[in-house]
Amino acid sequence: MPSLREASPELQEAMDRILNDVNKTISRLLPETDLAENKLFTAMRHGVLNGGKRLRPFLLIHSALLFNVDEERARRVAAALELMHCYSLIHDDLPAMDNADFRRGEPSVHRKFDEATAILAGDALQALAFEILASEETHADPRVRVELVTALARASGGHGLCGGQMLDLLGETEEFDVGTISRMQRMKTGMLIAFACEAGAILGKTDEARRRALRNYAFDLGMAFQVTDDILDVEADPKAMGKPANQDEAAGKSTFVTTLGKEQAKTRASMLVEQAVRHLHCFDESRVKMLKEIAYYVLERRA
Ligand code: IPE
Ligand code: IPE
Ligand code: MG
Ligand code: MG
Ligand code: MG
Repeated sequence: MPSLREASPELQEAMDRILNDVNKTISRLLPETDLAENKLFTAMRHGVLNGGKRLRPFLLIHSALLFNVDEERARRVAAALELMHCYSLIHDDLPAMDNADFRRGEPSVHRKFDEATAILAGDALQALAFEILASEETHADPRVRVELVTALARASGGHGLCGGQMLDLLGETEEFDVGTISRMQRMKTGMLIAFACEAGAILGKTDEARRRALRNYAFDLGMAFQVTDDILDVEADPKAMGKPANQDEAAGKSTFVTTLGKEQAKTRASMLVEQAVRHLHCFDESRVKMLKEIAYYVLERRA
């Protein structure tokens, strides 16, 4: 198994390019205004443009490229997905949830502004994400747009991210078994990451088998990503992470690390990544190189 402590130069270049392109698209879609309520837009921009690895846009764009989708269209969908992800982080940091003062090395939105503004910024980012997906500029075919809207709604709603976050909070006072932790992680993190790859397949109007393969790859990768996040919570440098360390145990969260210990959590993350890349076998090897590399990178990342 390739072990990448650092991203290969090719992967790093691809990640940097997508990060820059997507940030430009987001900045264009979310401008400052001269309206009386501009504080809201400043807070939204802070919550989105204050850094971030842009992993989900990377997965979305590289999935779309498998089907030769126009990259500008894919970038708009990637921007919408990132707005949704950033809304989830803004709300995740609120005192009522994880009560985190820092995100991406800067004060979290409710610390820089205030709680009410952070709630509104999250709400408005979510609405903007759907507005972008529903726009003709994103895709000329209304069926594609409806599929994108439906898939993102499912991934982020009560049976997806929000349901997973509910479980995460319940896990602070209840002892979860491994099955429930898996389900929670699949919902709170896996589903949005699965949307990333599925959106590429939707834009590419590909067949069901390829769409399923990408979804399965992304689910396993998403799980591995959250397990790694839980491991990094106990062992990474908070400066590199840009967010506080040792938050999960302090809050009494149920994670694989708090339940099984760090070593077993690492084994589980590696197994999930191996499983993830195996789902890509139906694609031409040379076309899924970046999707494979990013999977191993997720496992080895330190930030
Ligand atoms: C953090 O996501 C929340 C989790 C689902 C673990 P990321 O680690 O992708 O956060 P950014 O966007 O790079 O800051
Ligand atoms: C967040 O999980 C998952 C979301 C859906 C936002 P965490 O609470 O572990 O994410 P961090 O560690 O704050 O980034
Ligand atoms: Mg949380
Ligand atoms: Mg958190
Ligand atoms: Mg975490």
